This record gives sequence, C-alpha cells and structure tokens, in this order.
Amino acid sequence: MASIAFVLNGQPVTVEADPETPLLWVLRDTLGLTGTKYSCGEGVCGACSVLLDGARVESCVTPVGDVAGLTVVTIEGLSENGDHPLQRAWIEESVPQCGYCQPGQLIAAAALLAEHPQPTDAQIDDAMNGVICRCGTYHRIRRAIHRAADEMGGAS
Ligand code: FES
Ligand code: FES
Repeated sequence: MASIAFVLNGQPVTVEADPETPLLWVLRDTLGLTGTKYSCGEGVCGACSVLLDGARVESCVTPVGDVAGLTVVTIEGLSENGDHPLQRAWIEESVPQCGYCQPGQLIAAAALLAEHPQPTDAQIDDAMNGVICRCGTYHRIRRAIHRAADEMGGAS
C-alpha cells in the first residue's frame, strides 16, 4: 500500500492503495465516483475513459500509482451542474440510448475539443474511435460535438 496524491475534479485527494490498482477501481470503489463505467476491463472499449492531464486514458488499465501528482477529470467533474456545452448538446441531439458508454463518449469529446475547438468529421471520428457504442449513437455524437463546438466559440 502507498499514499497516492493527485488532483481529482479540481480537488486534491490522497488515497491509500496498491499502486498497481486500476484507477477505475479507486474512482468507483474508494472514492465513490461511479459515473466512470466498467465494461471490458482490458483497455478496449473506452467506457472507463477519464482525462489525465487533459488527455483521454482508459482508467481500467491505468495503475493508480501512475496518476500521482497529475490531474484527473471524471464525468462528474466535467461541469458543476451537468451543463457543460457538450452535455447540453448531448441532450439537444438525444444522443444516449442505453447510456452505458456515454460518460466515456463525453470525456473523449471533451479531450477532442480541447485539442481541436472546431473539429472536422474526420477528427471527430478519429478521436471517438476509442469509445465503443453498442447502441450505434455515432452519428448523433458527431452532430452533438459540432453543436457544442459552435456554442463554445470554436476558434481554432
Ligand atoms: S472498461 Fe476500460 S477500456 Fe473497456
Ligand atoms: S448508448 Fe448504449 S452503448 Fe452507447
């Protein structure tokens, strides 16, 4: 066990954990943030995506020891009241179906817009490629990202 300190959704946190423990388990089981989902557990589906210093990572294959001193943002930290432009666009475009993949989709979209404020369809497809949606919401995700980019000003 080790004391591992990082910044989570804007707040400093310290957890006692085996450094090899997947970040996903620490988020869900130790810290109670269950918005980040477990699906494949192998770094393949993207459901467990979080932002690590602004980049999307799969938290199921990220040892918590690797995030010491870094900044983690989960779906709970994307906005205070669920009103991030991406979250509003998701509602406007009726993106979610079963919803299970959607926290990961929103995290991936946030990382994309941070890098490309007015992304092309190809950039969207490339960035969202790592998050699988069994319900096939990809076309609505693309529309919602364009909508959010426009609302956010989109100057690249
Ligand atoms: S649960 Fe982490 S990538 Fe699938
Ligand atoms: S909305 Fe069901 S898996 Fe994506």
